Amino acid sequence: MGDTGEDTGEDTVASTLITGISELVTNDPHASDLLGAVVDAALVVDGDRVAWTGPAHLAPAADTAVDVGGRAVLPGWVDSHSHLVFAGDRAAEFEARMTGTPYAAGGIRTTVAATRAATDEQLTAHVAALVGEMRRQGTTTVEIKSGYGLTVRDEARSLAVARQFTEETTFLGAHVVPADTDPGAYVDLVTGPMLEAAAPHARWIDVFCEEGAFDAGQARAVLAAGAAVGLRGRLHANQLTYGPGVRLAAELGLVAVDHCTYLADADVATLADSGTVATLLPGVEFSTRQPYPDARRLLDAGVRVAIASDCNPGSSFTSSIPFCVALAVREMGMTPAEAVHAATSGGAAALDRADVGRLVPGARADLLVLDAPSHRHLAYRPGVPLVTSTWLGGRPTGALVGPS
Ligand code: NIG
Ligand code: FE
Repeated sequence: MGDTGEDTGEDTVASTLITGISELVTNDPHASDLLGAVVDAALVVDGDRVAWTGPAHLAPAADTAVDVGGRAVLPGWVDSHSHLVFAGDRAAEFEARMTGTPYAAGGIRTTVAATRAATDEQLTAHVAALVGEMRRQGTTTVEIKSGYGLTVRDEARSLAVARQFTEETTFLGAHVVPADTDPGAYVDLVTGPMLEAAAPHARWIDVFCEEGAFDAGQARAVLAAGAAVGLRGRLHANQLTYGPGVRLAAELGLVAVDHCTYLADADVATLADSGTVATLLPGVEFSTRQPYPDARRLLDAGVRVAIASDCNPGSSFTSSIPFCVALAVREMGMTPAEAVHAATSGGAAALDRADVGRLVPGARADLLVLDAPSHRHLAYRPGVPLVTSTWLGGRPTGALVGPS
């Protein structure tokens, strides 16, 4: 999604003028407000890029025009953390959690067994269905991890499946130690033959640095091995308890560290100094009944924050960034503008991408149209399917509730 886009079968129109925009969120970093919002706006798309944005009365001519009928237009969501390559579900585990059974990393092994038993075609069809859900809810860039194969063959094929949908693929062989396996021998496998098979299909490498998964020393070894073959590091850290993961990510200068639910004051200060993006995943706390991460504390300390879905069958089986935005506003102390910014510009920062997450000249024309006058309605009207169309590379995809 995003990079590979989708061929709608239509001829490419050279330029399109989008009018009738009640509020245009540009995320222009030079604007005086966080979102770079323009009211009564227009936007010109040229090929797959944004060519112009501004007040409608100043808009230049284009080859064709689309009127979105007084709706808000936002950059498409940049979902920087998902685990879409899996088979089966864990609905019974979710149900038990809702009556008090705590979430534990070991549940991952249930999905590993189902994923190993699935064919490539089944895995591909399942990812396609989930990416379709995401696209209908406005996601235009998605990162997809492996991590439910945990053998050389199953990690490599998981990443090959993910690569059909996005360039933002992440090798997560270090998700959990498989059943009946020696941890040291498994780290040797991950940093050796598994990495060799996975690397051609991956841009990133990730480790679940947590009690019950991998400790800081193991995480350091996996990230170093990945770096040696050109993979960039990211971490799952401080999800279930306080721990060393966030400090390790900052020390190594990683682009992003994800979860950040349990943070000591020193962790927050270290994140602010390092510039590492803290990716918050509120679908996890919703589904595990844990306390939500304190986004307000991070933002007030000057930490760069992203919001992502963490879509996976265990801790957060939602593909919906609008749901995550609503949770971030209701439960994590973010303003609607901060939450929208974190799910667009923040996600782009977490993937080190300058071409997405903003609608400024030269950026990819990846955008969503909301059946609402402003971004505030995403949190104000939770659970309502407000995204009426999603544009990828300058072309509308998915269902369009026709612009009036
Ligand atoms: O990001 N924390 C580790 N991995 C996933 C959960 C995986 C699972 O429970 O299946 C996460 O929450
Ligand atoms: Fe995750």
